[in-house]
Amino acid sequence: MQKTMIALALGAVALVAGAALFLATGPGPDAGKPLSPAAVEIGDTELGGPFTLTNQDGERVTAAEVIDGPTLIYFGYTFCPDVCPTTLMLVAESLERLGDAADRVQPIFISVDPERDTPELLGAYTAVFDERIVGLTGTPQQIDAVTDAYGAHYRARRDEASDGRYQVDHSIYLYIMDPDGAFVRAMDFHSSGEEIADTLRQMIGRR
Ligand code: NI
Repeated sequence: MQKTMIALALGAVALVAGAALFLATGPGPDAGKPLSPAAVEIGDTELGGPFTLTNQDGERVTAAEVIDGPTLIYFGYTFCPDVCPTTLMLVAESLERLGDAADRVQPIFISVDPERDTPELLGAYTAVFDERIVGLTGTPQQIDAVTDAYGAHYRARRDEASDGRYQVDHSIYLYIMDPDGAFVRAMDFHSSGEEIADTLRQMIGRR
């Protein structure tokens, strides 16, 4: 257990270093390839919907239980070498910039790699960025249902030579949802932490 946590911590340090490098240089040739969503457009009222998943404590949770206030939803996986850590760093920065108002916002990280992302691993991973980020995983069927609902895509890229290791190409969107779970807009790692914070601030202000 102790060793697992130390390994996770070391992994996290490597991830943050990797993310910093990614921000400085952009995606390298080995980066997980971001996939474009089918149609994510501002005001698309069809996006989102109910889901049932498992949180980082191993508890079964529904969308209605998790979404309580302006919500950020991001689909990714803990082994992601670049876009996920970069995006989660921006989410963490936006929460910091919001100060006390961040308590009214719910950031959610949903795994598209349920095979490797156990609740325990997800919890350790999201906490590296900000302990307020809820990590959710589920069965492959549950993950397919929630990604379909959000128009998100993912595809595991396995190659014979890689010894069982694989990357998962996935959509890069940060979905901004209102307190009722309705889609407001999509952002991504090209936005700054301040831009994300500002979007959330406006939503909090409207309440
Ligand atoms: Ni990723």
